[in-house]
Amino acid sequence: MMSYKVLITGASRGIGRAIALQLAKNGQYRLLLHASSASSLKELIGLLPVETEYEILPFNFANEEEVSQLIRHLKQTHKDLYAIVSNAGITRDKGLAFQPLKEIDELIQVNLKVPIQLAKAAMKIFPKNDRGVFIALSSCVAETGSAFQSVYTATKAANVSLCKSLAREAGVLHTDKLIRFISVAPGFIQTDMTNKLSEEIQQKYLRQIPSGRFGKTEEVAHAIEFLLSENASYINGSEFKINGGLL
Ligand SMILES: NC(=O)c1ccc[n+]([C@@H]2O[C@H](COP(=O)([O-])OP(=O)(O)OC[C@H]3O[C@@H](n4cnc5c(N)ncnc54)[C@H](OP(=O)(O)O)[C@@H]3O)[C@@H](O)[C@H]2O)c1
Repeated sequence: MMSYKVLITGASRGIGRAIALQLAKNGQYRLLLHASSASSLKELIGLLPVETEYEILPFNFANEEEVSQLIRHLKQTHKDLYAIVSNAGITRDKGLAFQPLKEIDELIQVNLKVPIQLAKAAMKIFPKNDRGVFIALSSCVAETGSAFQSVYTATKAANVSLCKSLAREAGVLHTDKLIRFISVAPGFIQTDMTNKLSEEIQQKYLRQIPSGRFGKTEEVAHAIEFLLSENASYINGSEFKINGGLL
């Protein structure tokens, strides 16, 4: 059976972990599992089916040198990479007037500069294999905006346009190849990221969700499994929403 190598960033917890487990269960994927440290990936490793082929890639995305090391490693050792799921992300909720520059830099570094660097690596690696899929995690708030999340939402909106432009760029440079760039915009999914929001904010979101409940990480993982598959070969450049109707 054909085996596809996929890098998942931020695979230790939440949505990234669910994607890793779903692709492991699928059986067609070899996994490059990234998180900020090896220790944060331990629990996930214990949950993988024994036959899963994987490598762990602990790199702190807040550290530019570590990001460069990861990019070098991908280009040297993983020339056969099929896909990148750029999922690692952070929030630093605060009114912009009171947000320290250090936090603004951190949000831009982890949520935007790293995805751009990963997409750049994809643009080098994928054409040599005649195929590849890059998926960037955006967010529903990229479209709606969100009070006290202005920098976060700006980074997430930038991921949407990054994928649109690179889908076009790949179309110009590599017409005969199947290289796709897609952004995925989850609504409110229950993870560490959303569990730390106040009860009041959680209830406010809940009232706006037509499906009447928060999303599960597995629901995002199933959609990403589909987007990576050849059945999704005509989905390119688009923003894929998984939000229970939350607008
Ligand atoms: N949850 C939602 O409702 C929701 C909605 C819309 C969009 N999203 C987006 O979906 C993605 C995943 O969200 P989530 O809710 O699953 O988040 P999460 O539970 O907080 O997990 C974040 C992941 O990112 C990794 N990460 C964070 N900072 C890092 C750093 N400096 N270096 C390396 N890795 C780092 C974490 O690794 P460690 O364990 O090593 O810290 C962890 O694996 C994010 O991009 C988020 O913006 C989430």
